[in-house]
Amino acid sequence: MKEVLSPLDIMRNMVEKLQTFYPTHDKKAGGIIQFHLRHLNENIDCYIKSDEKELRFFEGTAINPTVTVKSTFYNWLDLAGGKLNPVLGVMTGKLKFKGDTSFFKILPRKKLGKELDIPKDPVTKFEKNPQKYWTKPEKIIVLSASPRAQNGYTDYYLSPFIKGMRKNAEVELVHLAKYKINPCTGCFSCWMKIPGECIYHSKDDFNVLAEKMFTADLTVYAFPIYADSMPGILKNYFDRSVSRAYPYMIEGMNRVRHPRRYIHENHSMVVFSICGFFEMINFEPVRAYFQALAHNRHTPVIAEIYRTTAVGLYGNPFAFKMQRSVLNALEKAGEDIVTLGKIKRRTQKLIHQKFRVTSTDIDKVNEWWKESEGSQKNDY
Ligand SMILES: Cc1cc2nc3c(=O)[nH]c(=O)nc-3n(C[C@H](O)[C@H](O)[C@H](O)COP(=O)(O)O)c2cc1C
Repeated sequence: MKEVLSPLDIMRNMVEKLQTFYPTHDKKAGGIIQFHLRHLNENIDCYIKSDEKELRFFEGTAINPTVTVKSTFYNWLDLAGGKLNPVLGVMTGKLKFKGDTSFFKILPRKKLGKELDIPKDPVTKFEKNPQKYWTKPEKIIVLSASPRAQNGYTDYYLSPFIKGMRKNAEVELVHLAKYKINPCTGCFSCWMKIPGECIYHSKDDFNVLAEKMFTADLTVYAFPIYADSMPGILKNYFDRSVSRAYPYMIEGMNRVRHPRRYIHENHSMVVFSICGFFEMINFEPVRAYFQALAHNRHTPVIAEIYRTTAVGLYGNPFAFKMQRSVLNALEKAGEDIVTLGKIKRRTQKLIHQKFRVTSTDIDKVNEWWKESEGSQKNDY
């Protein structure tokens, strides 16, 4: 387990870090910076001793320091981190210095970012406004992530949507359940040991699938709601996709993200989800998830399709009419997505139309489950 670092550990680490820059620093000199820092009723006395070669850290009090700093530990950290102006710090009594304050110049101030050659991958016009810069996708991949693959309701609802898209584009349906994808172990080997390559690189199917997915101009992520989120196989796929980004951090749209290792210009995605319950609120967690994912993958979500009561609409004579209008609207949505890069509001409303659940409906569901208890049914 990681241990909680003490203020002395922090000071020691800070000096070790400074030492890495010290040999090339042009203000090297011999002397001592003494610290008397206060933290949670504790006195932290330590000092940095410098010569022409190195900076060394010591606990305790030195004889004849060149300069002494007296403050709280946090105020010193603010000063060291550039968040507290030294003059203001002295004026407000947050910092007290004794001796030759010009001696602080021996501490190197290295501005790291400037010298690092890291990929920029800035926000594109397409990402900001995909509809405005929409061009018909040549290739669409639908990643169907129901663990039941083609046997579930996910594919049942996907079918008219794919039919609509196929009128104007090449569409490939891929079943995630047919690929073996191990969960990420969090080892960061893909960012350190062999950049871009996971420890499972040739041991499972992630890479093959990721390469295939990379060929798509538009990706549809289709999945059922599992425990208020997505099925684990899809989350595993997204977790493993971290290997396809660089570890560096860059500015995105109002927040920080990673640059991509592989860039497919104007790539966008559609979220397509179904659930057993009746209310749209059941999609809120995945909705938030995909908003975040879209930003961090530099891939805008151009449409979201959420169908509640996915099981309840199927084969229910009292929902037959509604079911048909949902399926027709899904086909229309497929057509619109390809040509417009969006779904028209009217179509979206039909897909999302509410099934007004009554206590009789709930009773029927419960009866079904009661009857099914202990049965060998596999036609759910
Ligand atoms: C493990 C599991 C968890 C589920 N959790 C939810 C849930 O949190 N909310 C919901 O509305 N439906 C939930 N469902 C219902 C599924 O979304 C629904 O059965 C869907 O049809 C399954 O997709 P499939 O038919 O493509 O396999 C869950 C189903 C399973 C198997």
